[in-house]
Amino acid sequence: MYRTHTCGELRQAQIGQEITLAGWVHKIRDKGFVLWVDLRDRYGITQLVFDEERTPADVLEKAKKLGREFVLQAKGTIIQRTSRNDQIPTGDIELLVSEFTILNPSLLPPFTIEDETDGGDELRMKYRYLDIRRDPVKDNLIFRHKVTMEVRKYLSDQGFIEVETPYLIKSTPEGARDFVVPSRMNEGQFYALPQSPQTFKQLLMVGGMDKYFQIVKCFRDEDLRADRQPEFTQIDCEMAFVEQDDILETFEGLTRHVLHAIHGVDTGAFPRMTYDEAMQRYGSDKPDIRFGMEFGELNALAQHGDFNVFNQAELVVGIAVPGGASWSRKEIDAWVDWVKRPQVGAKGLVYVKCNEDGTYKSSVDKFYDTEDLAKWAKTLGAQKGDLLLIISGDKAASRNQLNVLRMELANQLGLRKTDEFAPLWVTDFPLLEWDEDSESYHAMHHPFTSPKPDQLSLLDSDPGAVRANAYDLVLNGNEIGGGSIRIHDKEVQQLMFKHLGFTEEEAKAQFGFLMDAFQYGAPPHGGIAFGLDRFVAILGGQETIRDFIAFPKNNSGRDVMIDAPAHIDKDQLKELGLKIDLPSS
Ligand code: AMO
Repeated sequence: MYRTHTCGELRQAQIGQEITLAGWVHKIRDKGFVLWVDLRDRYGITQLVFDEERTPADVLEKAKKLGREFVLQAKGTIIQRTSRNDQIPTGDIELLVSEFTILNPSLLPPFTIEDETDGGDELRMKYRYLDIRRDPVKDNLIFRHKVTMEVRKYLSDQGFIEVETPYLIKSTPEGARDFVVPSRMNEGQFYALPQSPQTFKQLLMVGGMDKYFQIVKCFRDEDLRADRQPEFTQIDCEMAFVEQDDILETFEGLTRHVLHAIHGVDTGAFPRMTYDEAMQRYGSDKPDIRFGMEFGELNALAQHGDFNVFNQAELVVGIAVPGGASWSRKEIDAWVDWVKRPQVGAKGLVYVKCNEDGTYKSSVDKFYDTEDLAKWAKTLGAQKGDLLLIISGDKAASRNQLNVLRMELANQLGLRKTDEFAPLWVTDFPLLEWDEDSESYHAMHHPFTSPKPDQLSLLDSDPGAVRANAYDLVLNGNEIGGGSIRIHDKEVQQLMFKHLGFTEEEAKAQFGFLMDAFQYGAPPHGGIAFGLDRFVAILGGQETIRDFIAFPKNNSGRDVMIDAPAHIDKDQLKELGLKIDLPSS
């Protein structure tokens, strides 16, 4: 037996007991006649003590040669510590070592294995196995495990069956590029790694599995951001014989269960908001509703004077920033510059100070009187002491710019509290979205999403107006899940493909298997997929999913630890029938 206990569990009750521990040397303090070693494992830290009086001389001498991150097995007696350390749970005791074995020495680690490390991002990624020894990373992985277990428990208790679907498949259109895998046995042909198990879970419904889930890796070759990885994990779910409300209730139940189990938080029924309402009130389809600063539209109140910027705008829209009236001119100008940066792209920002004494001071005093400004303040729900910030221009762009500003203000004002959880459903998404580059409509969710049945006829006349039975679950301003009621009728599916610009042959070649299946008694069905990495990160009070993934990729999609992707050798290429001009090395 390597160890009788872990480094996190010993207390005063074990004083006098003979104990064996195993772990890593975290820290060494050598006072000459006495030597302390903090021994660390996954469970905590226990102090080992060696001294001239009580430790055999050869053991003390050997201990003096220890280095950081050596792996030890240490035997001895638990004794009371003379000076307690109340920072750690084992701080009352220490292990008086009688003998120890070096199980493996270690090179000096390239960064300190501490909560606050001196290692930069890239270095920590290169030595991720050392990074995982640090509490913040280790705790995140344990946290992820707990969330995953709660998810599995809940879904299994609700009668869902976890079924694995293949990774070597044909393209599933979720809007990103595919990662492809060449086939040796079928030269010149490729598998695609699934962007999601979408078509397979629908086929499982045709197969009668009626409640499916899978915690599953998905692969998308898309530009990376803090909340995106090229391979990520979904809690993928599908149900048969359901309507939208059944799905929303079931997965609201899952989310509530997890929030309660992990944080003891009880949320009421989740608010539901249509896509149109979310865009109007927050300029975003994933609004953060933990704080106010809701949008107010000012067209009717601001397009009557000589201020042409507003007069010519499709939309004049603003927010009230709590306490902002006390900001200096310099501070406000900094925000004006901030929204004008190309990343935000606003042409300008109008401000109105709602002073405590009831007066107003604005950047458009030349054009509007107090009565106007008071009306704007009322529409934006401003209190005395608030600052109105107003953007105008094209409707979609103005909303987007004001959303970016609202979120940044909330970050800087500390309004996005990480221990507060505000979930909501956003429903009735547009079925199609216009893509400027290809000048065609794309499925906003995916091509298997059902249009609202009464809007099918609009597909020909006004495709952009058709709403879908599609919904997103939003938590604290992040899209943590998305799903839809599916088309289960071959004709409707064919019609969808037609509107997405597929010829009949293309649709048959890519999705013939699904349309064939629909002819053999496909039940009405629908589902959802949660982004597990995002869900876990937000539950953990963060928005960077990388910190909750054991071995993530960097922003260029590389694994810097194993150095992937990498070239493969000529023989392998030949075997796969691939001809690539390799750069000379
Ligand atoms: P969707 O594409 O909305 O739906 O994905 C579901 C959820 O997965 C998460 N997600 C990601 N997380 C990390 N990195 C990424 N690159 C990434 N891309 C997506 C998001 C998102 O809400 N098959 C459908 C689901 C369905 O209709 O049932 C689908 O994949 O949190």
